[in-house]
Amino acid sequence: MSVLKISGGRELRGTARVHGAKNSVLPIIAASLLANGETVLHNCPKLSDVDAAIKILRHLGCSAERAGNEVIIDSRGLSRLDIPHGLMREMRSSVIFLGAMLARGGEAELSLPGGCELGPRPIDLHLGALRELGAEITEEGGSIICRAAKLWGRRVNLSFPSVGATENTMLAASLADGTTIITNAAREPEIWDLQCYLRALGVAVYGAGTPTVTVEGTKISASVSHSVIPDRIVAATYLAAAAATRSEIELTDVIPAHLSTVIEVLGEMGCDIRVERERIRVSSDGKLRAVRPIITGPYPGFPTDAQPQLMAAALKARGTTAFVENIFDNRYRHVGEMRRLGADIKLEGRVAMVTGARKLHGAPVTATDLRGGAALVVAALGAEGVTEISGVHHIDRGYDGLEDTLRAVGAKIERV
Ligand code: UD1
Repeated sequence: MSVLKISGGRELRGTARVHGAKNSVLPIIAASLLANGETVLHNCPKLSDVDAAIKILRHLGCSAERAGNEVIIDSRGLSRLDIPHGLMREMRSSVIFLGAMLARGGEAELSLPGGCELGPRPIDLHLGALRELGAEITEEGGSIICRAAKLWGRRVNLSFPSVGATENTMLAASLADGTTIITNAAREPEIWDLQCYLRALGVAVYGAGTPTVTVEGTKISASVSHSVIPDRIVAATYLAAAAATRSEIELTDVIPAHLSTVIEVLGEMGCDIRVERERIRVSSDGKLRAVRPIITGPYPGFPTDAQPQLMAAALKARGTTAFVENIFDNRYRHVGEMRRLGADIKLEGRVAMVTGARKLHGAPVTATDLRGGAALVVAALGAEGVTEISGVHHIDRGYDGLEDTLRAVGAKIERV
């Protein structure tokens, strides 16, 4: 098992390129089943979650090959409609294949994703929406079996703007008979990217980025190429790293508008942030101050996926910053590990009170989930001495070339 060894307390200077978004590429890989043709995905990050999605495609009888930053998929050979437990366990977001398998083949079987490191992750909204479109769903022995001789366009109202449920509904609706109108849809940029891909396939889908997404079902047989949007959470991680280390970093290949809440918080903390078309330059003189409460919420609210990394930056700020986590029940597992580095954090339910500006020191810590692990990297970069982070496989799910990128801007980080 490898660990990341970080010698902290160094200033970072230089340019870092932001890779393609994990949370965009995964639903688009599932959507490639609908194409019944070839999809070339550009800007596709090398991540263990992407490898797991590719394995699922191959299991289903499709071909999928990586060539550098491209993944080439041919979904004409689809020959099965089930995802076994082992593959589901490798990547819980594989539930996103449900809508695509059902639409393309009339049935789908997969084991329930169950709980994950962020707490219980129910899929009732996904299943409710698919039922609306005409699916019959049974749950037996930890598996869900969906069948639909035909899917029908319908009105689907989500009681919460779930990202995955919105995506699953969009996928199923793409091949349904008639028009589906999803209300209270998630508005995340990744929904917009999925819409772009579906449009390339010839589906009339509009409204992504607003609470109402409309999908006119159609027949698809298309070969297309698509370039994945930049990963806003990876960008937020590097911005937080600069803030925590009195550094100056320029991010390239990024869409600043997707990061407005994160940029606003870092600006309030005292970072100087300049935004150009596809670049963000951040500099920090190390004199950070606490900010008003950081409250996570569905987009355009503050992203839950950036909460841990910004908490790592807040550890360096004078005063107390409150964090309120509204999306996941169990998203403070990094807190115990941050305390090992000397952090002063009080936890009460959904609220974490972070008192910063204490001296952080290196220590052995464990990444317990993807973004919590990334936050430990940020905290370690801002701590004096050596931090060894184990549980690196969590971080590898979402960061392509993390060590190389950080080393290129002057960090002392190695995988041992
Ligand atoms: C996606 C992202 C994840 C991010 C999250 C919130 C991907 C692959 N993952 O996850 O990184 O943290 O959005 O921005 O894109 N819920 C239900 N029932 C459901 C579905 C969700 O109760 O059927 C609840 C969840 O338990 C959670 C909340 O809704 O509390 C948000 O979940 P959702 O938006 O669905 O997140 P994911 O799509 O799983």
